[in-house]
Amino acid sequence: MKRTAPLLLLILILLNSCSPKAPATPGAAPTPTLPAAIYPDASQPIEARVEDLLSRMTLEEKIGQMTQVEMGSIQPADVSTYFIGSILSGGDGNPPNNTAQAWQDMVKGFQTAAMATRLKIPMIYGIDATHGNAHLYGATVFPQESGVAATHDPALAQKIGEATAEEMLATGVPWTFSPIVAVPQDIRWGRTYESYSEDTQLTTEIATAYIKGLQSLPAGVKTSEGQSLFTLATAKHYIGDGATIWGSSRTGEYLLDQGNVQVDEATLRKLYLPPYQAAVDAGAMSVMASFSSYRGTKMHAQKYLLTDVLKNELGFKGFIVSDWGGIDQIDPDYYTAVVAAINAGVDMNMVPTDYMNFINAMKQAVDDKDITEERINDAVRRILRAKFALGLFEHPYPDPAFISTVRSDEHVAIARQAVQESLVLLKNDNAALPIAKDTPKVFVAGQGADDIGMLCGGWTITWQGQTGNIDIGTTILNSIKTLVSADTTVEYNPTGKFSGKANTGIVVVGEMPYAEGLGDKADLSLSDADIQAINNMRPLVDKLVVVIIAGRPLVITGQLASADAWVAAWLPGTEGEGISDVLFGDHPFVGKLPYTWPRTNAQLPINENNSDGKTGCDAPLFPFGYGLGEAGSQPIAQPTCP
Ligand code: GLC
Repeated sequence: MKRTAPLLLLILILLNSCSPKAPATPGAAPTPTLPAAIYPDASQPIEARVEDLLSRMTLEEKIGQMTQVEMGSIQPADVSTYFIGSILSGGDGNPPNNTAQAWQDMVKGFQTAAMATRLKIPMIYGIDATHGNAHLYGATVFPQESGVAATHDPALAQKIGEATAEEMLATGVPWTFSPIVAVPQDIRWGRTYESYSEDTQLTTEIATAYIKGLQSLPAGVKTSEGQSLFTLATAKHYIGDGATIWGSSRTGEYLLDQGNVQVDEATLRKLYLPPYQAAVDAGAMSVMASFSSYRGTKMHAQKYLLTDVLKNELGFKGFIVSDWGGIDQIDPDYYTAVVAAINAGVDMNMVPTDYMNFINAMKQAVDDKDITEERINDAVRRILRAKFALGLFEHPYPDPAFISTVRSDEHVAIARQAVQESLVLLKNDNAALPIAKDTPKVFVAGQGADDIGMLCGGWTITWQGQTGNIDIGTTILNSIKTLVSADTTVEYNPTGKFSGKANTGIVVVGEMPYAEGLGDKADLSLSDADIQAINNMRPLVDKLVVVIIAGRPLVITGQLASADAWVAAWLPGTEGEGISDVLFGDHPFVGKLPYTWPRTNAQLPINENNSDGKTGCDAPLFPFGYGLGEAGSQPIAQPTCP
C-alpha cells in the first residue's frame, strides 16, 4: 500500500498537470497549480505561447476556436458559452447604423464576450474588405481587383492594402477575406472582377504586394511586442476557382462559379498554385478553401491539395478557413461532411449560422474517433498562431484612433491614383483624347456617368452592390463639370438624346452591379440601352468617346467603329474623378489589359493561354497586356469580320 501512495500521488499530479486547471471552488483543498502561464506574456516566442495555451484548453474550447459564426446568428452570450473563436460579416452583415463607431461597438460586444471566457482567448472578426472596407458607408472604395491589376503597379497595390487595413481597423475588424488569387481563364465568371488577371505572374505580383500592404506593421502605429501582422489577409479560394468549366456548377442558377475544374495537376501547379506559394512566402496566415471541385471532388474535402500540398509542400503555417457553408456542400449528411473537411485540412468552419450543429458534430467525431485530437490540436495551433501574430491577445478591442482614417485625404488620393493608372485606352482616332478643358460644349450620356453604385460594383455596402447614390464619392459627370473651363457647357442625358450639337460626346456604358455566380453570363454584349445611347450621341458630336464601366471585358466589336475613342475603366470605386483626370489630359493613359478582350461571345473562353495561333477574325479584339498611350501598344488594324 505504502508503495502505491507516492505513485498514486504522482499519477494525480501528472493527471492534474495535463488537464486544465479547473476553477478552484472556495474552501476546497488547494489543487496542484499549473506552471505559470506563458501564453499571456507577449515577450515570449509565439510558438511557446501557442503550445502553452493549447495545453490548457479543453476539447470544447478547442472546438470553439474552429467555429466561425456570422454576426446575425449569435448573441454575445453564446460566444462565451461555446468559446466561439471567430465572428464574420457576410456580404450583407452590417450593423443597423452603418458607421465606424457602430461597427466598433458591435465588434467590441462580441469580443467582450470572448474575453470573458476562462482562458480569455480573443475572437477574430472577419470581413470581405475586397476593394477597401466597402461594407462601411463612407469608406474609401478602391477600384475592384481587375482595375488594380490593369495598373500593373505592385507598389500602388501595396498602398491600397495599407489604406484598406487602416479602414478595416476603423471598424475594429482585423481580418479580411481577400485577395482572390484565382487567375480566371473564362471572363464569363461573375468573380472575374474580384480577381486580378488571367495571367499567373501579374496575379502573383499584385496579390503579394496587396498582402504585404495589409499585413505589414506601419511605422508609428501602436503594436504589441512580438506582433508581426497589422491585419490578416486571406488568399482565396484555394484552389482553381478561376478554372471551372462552363455549365459545371452544382449551385442553383450559377453556371461557372463553384463549378468543376478538370485541368491536370501539372496545369493546376503551373497556372494556379504560384500565387499561393507567393502568398505563403509573403506571410499570409489564412487561406480560404474554394467552393469549386477538382476533378469531381469538392475542394473542401481535398486532403491532398489542402494538407499535402498547401500545408506540407508549400509550408503554410496559418489556418485554412472554409467558405460560407462550404463544408455542407461535401455531403448531404452533415456529420460525414464535417469529418471529411476537417480531416482534409480545413481548420476553421465558416459555419456560418447553425453553430451548435457543427459543435455537436465535432464532439461526436472525437468521441467516435473519426477526427483525432491531434488533428484538432493542429487546427487550433494554426488559429492561435495567427491570433498571437496579430497581437489580438494584447489589443483585443477596436482602437478608436483608426476611425479618423476613413476617407482620409491620403486614402482618397491613393484611390484616385489607382483609378487614373487603371484606365486602358483601347482606341483613340481623330485625336479624340485627351479632351481640351476649354472645349465649348460637351455632351455626357449613360447611367454610369452619374451613378456611384455602378462605379463600385458588388461587395459595396451590400453583397450584390446597388446602383444609385449609395455612397460618398465623385461621379464621372460631377468630376467633368469641375474639371472643364468656366466657359464650357456640359449637358447630361442618360439616353444620349440632346437638342443641338456638341464638340465632344462621352457615353458611359457598362454592367449593373452583381457578385459571385449571379454574374455568370454567356452574353457579354453591351446592353441595348447602351448601344442606343451611343447611336443617339454619334450624329450630334464631332468626337465621340465611350467609357466602359465593367469589371471584365465586354463584347464591343459591333460598336467599335461608332466611336472615335474607347476606354476600359473597370469598376473604379468612389473616386470617379480619376477617370476625368485622364480623359482631360491631367494624367496619361498607362493601363494595360489584365484580361484578353474577346471579339465575340462565341470565342469565350479566350485568354493568353489559349490564343496562340489565333489570327484575323479568330484573334481576340485586344490581347492581354494591350494598352495605347504611355502603356506603349500600337493601334490594332481590325479585320472586317462577319
Ligand atoms: C462568399 C464568398 C467568399 C466570402 C465569404 C464570406 O460566399 O465565396 O469569397 O469571403 O462568402 O462573405
